[in-house]
Amino acid sequence: PVPVIIDCDTGVDDALALLFAARHPGLDLRAVTCVAGNTHVDQVVRNTLTVLEQAGAPEIPVGRGAERPLIEPPRDAHHVHGRDGMGDLGLPAPVRRPAGVDAVTLLRREILASDRPVTLVPTAPLTNIALLLRTHPEVTANIERIVFMGGAVATGNATAVAEFNVWHDPEAAAVLLTAGVPVTMYGLDVFERVLVPPPDVRRLRESAEPGARLAGRLLSHRGPATGEHDPRGGLGDAGAVCSVADPAGLTTHRLPVEVNLAPGPARGQTVVDRRPRPGEAELHGEMREQRLVDVALDIDADRYVRLYLTTVEAAGPR
Ligand code: BDR
Ligand code: CA
Repeated sequence: PVPVIIDCDTGVDDALALLFAARHPGLDLRAVTCVAGNTHVDQVVRNTLTVLEQAGAPEIPVGRGAERPLIEPPRDAHHVHGRDGMGDLGLPAPVRRPAGVDAVTLLRREILASDRPVTLVPTAPLTNIALLLRTHPEVTANIERIVFMGGAVATGNATAVAEFNVWHDPEAAAVLLTAGVPVTMYGLDVFERVLVPPPDVRRLRESAEPGARLAGRLLSHRGPATGEHDPRGGLGDAGAVCSVADPAGLTTHRLPVEVNLAPGPARGQTVVDRRPRPGEAELHGEMREQRLVDVALDIDADRYVRLYLTTVEAAGPR
């Protein structure tokens, strides 16, 4: 199995991602680290521990990370994810406590201890990842790639052009893109397309198995990937983890990407260069420092919905 670590801000759809990662036989979830984003980091830690307990995977270490972005103040998403950041489902408090070390230390420890290069999957603002890359750059030698949910080619949600995770901490996203590690950007363009039909959501909700039932309840919440009146359930962040388990369902192109860090209406936008040849700016000597990123441009949504359902329903706790 592929060794993976998820860095998240659980989060309705982060919870869906954790349930999948804990159960897919091709993934070896080594640790989960938490960061401020959808809600306060302490609530993220509680939500994450609860989800792993419900998933039957209570042994996975959970690390508490940054409680605010590098420069910006924290700006939660309670209007989408509920007061508790996870849909206000009334879930039990976790029995377990987080690891005795902070998220950056846990990330470093697990990456360096791994017998094979680790795939990092951040589904949250990139604060922890930026702190890790700046504090312990030696970890990059044992990172296979970083598949992050964030950014977009052609749209936005937090603003007209910026996606929430990048908008929440744009400087951290810029650190990730310039760190020299292979990066895959699973942005809003594909994120919003992976939707579970209502009959499947109903079946999950009625499951006798706690993890599958929780997935059904989360998918019934009108989360970040669905409109208010859409009866389907968005997999959201979980789609990024599906693409690690089954890369063939995602079409990526290697393109230059830069985060807009300027104050103003485009702050936090991921500027993706899709031009087939240099333009007037380059011809006049205006060279940008852009890094190549594998940008997700198309997705086989049905394939990932099927993969998600068979994994979460059939497997039960590993
Ligand atoms: C992202 O922001 C959060 O609300 C979701 O969990 C997802 O990671 C979507 O922009
Ligand atoms: Ca998230």
